[in-house]
Amino acid sequence: MRASFNSIWHPLLLCALLAGAGAEVSTVCGDVNLDDWTSPSWPFQGYSVLCIGDRAASCSGGASADDEATCLADSSLHVTIYNAGVRSSRANLQIPVPADLQDLEKVLAKEYPPSNPTRHNKIKDAFQKKGRDKALFAFYKPGRAGELPVRISSTDVKGLTGPVLVYEGGAFLWPGIEIDFKRNVSLNMPGTPPVSVTLLTRSLQPLVIEVSSFLDKSECQHIIGKAEPRMAKSGVSHMDHDVGKADATWRTSSTYFMPSDTDIVKRLDKRVAALTLQSVRHQEYAQVLRYEKNEHYEAHHDFFDVALYQKSEQVLGLTKNGLFNRLATVFFYLSTVEKGGQTNFPRAGGGPQPRNFAACSEGVSIDPQEGRIIIFYSLHPSGRTDEYSLHGGCDVHEGTKWSANKWIWNKPMDYLRE
Ligand SMILES: *[C@@H]1O[C@H](CO)[C@@H](O)[C@H](O)[C@H]1NC(C)=O
Repeated sequence: MRASFNSIWHPLLLCALLAGAGAEVSTVCGDVNLDDWTSPSWPFQGYSVLCIGDRAASCSGGASADDEATCLADSSLHVTIYNAGVRSSRANLQIPVPADLQDLEKVLAKEYPPSNPTRHNKIKDAFQKKGRDKALFAFYKPGRAGELPVRISSTDVKGLTGPVLVYEGGAFLWPGIEIDFKRNVSLNMPGTPPVSVTLLTRSLQPLVIEVSSFLDKSECQHIIGKAEPRMAKSGVSHMDHDVGKADATWRTSSTYFMPSDTDIVKRLDKRVAALTLQSVRHQEYAQVLRYEKNEHYEAHHDFFDVALYQKSEQVLGLTKNGLFNRLATVFFYLSTVEKGGQTNFPRAGGGPQPRNFAACSEGVSIDPQEGRIIIFYSLHPSGRTDEYSLHGGCDVHEGTKWSANKWIWNKPMDYLRE
């Protein structure tokens, strides 16, 4: 028995057993239903799901307690991996017991090379230059239905079994699973009552998740009341070729960057942090927007494409030359609009670059409804930017649209403190 375990010490060669088409696959791991974390068919670039088997099981039956102890110390782990989070791309691996997350990352990266190796290697090199060697992948333990996943730290690696979510780019994203997929989660924030929400997948490409009733009426009105006397015509970040141009045609709303200086706004920051599983340190201040009749915002991306900002020291600095970026936008709808004012993702479902960036006729549109939010992701789990996250604010035809952007980065920006 010892011998067979030793031979496996050699990096995970064992059987990369692809499940045959039509084979019955169990989708339960520990007490977690993996159907909540794997997709029937949609590959989620830079994400994978592991089910780590019980190591003790392969050691039991040893001749003595000593044998068993040695076996446990040396043995390997049986792991089922769903690469890109796809249910049918299931493979079985046997891997050495990792000492820490760094170890686990190395073993996984050997078998499944990062889908964004340039970024991965650059960040690794930067860590090493500072004398730090740490895992860049983020590992999460999904809970039972209704519970939020919890980040795994290096000290938790010993005895790690059951389901594990792996994010190559180092930041958590909610897996979309499939269009119309719903999940209920309870958000627990220190000092405020828990909030139960339902996440509804509206689009997989780009990943758009809708949560109705995230804010209550009084919270929406608080933000509007705070912003209303302070609204100014919206600006935009200017790409190199647009510097000096007016913003008037492509963006016609009014804007207010709202400091997080009231209890209600602070509470919402925490709720957004709980929902996105990113600390408030990753958030920008909310940008409140008002669109009146015939006002809109032409389709654009929320991430910074550094190729277009090579002359902007500010953008290059913020993004560390493109290694970090806005991960997600949490977009608040603070009023229900009688007609128009949708958020449109013209390329949703894999559509081409639109000819008319104000058309609002293609892809997926979300109706503004008081208290609703959407989370949409500008990055893949690999850290790569998602071109399909192109989106715009459609013309308001009747009523006033009040909304707010909350941008979440994949690193702490420290605009806001915990
Ligand atoms: C989610 O919660 C709602 C009630 O808020 C309930 O009707 C629904 O069945 C739940 N869905 C799931 C998937 O648990």
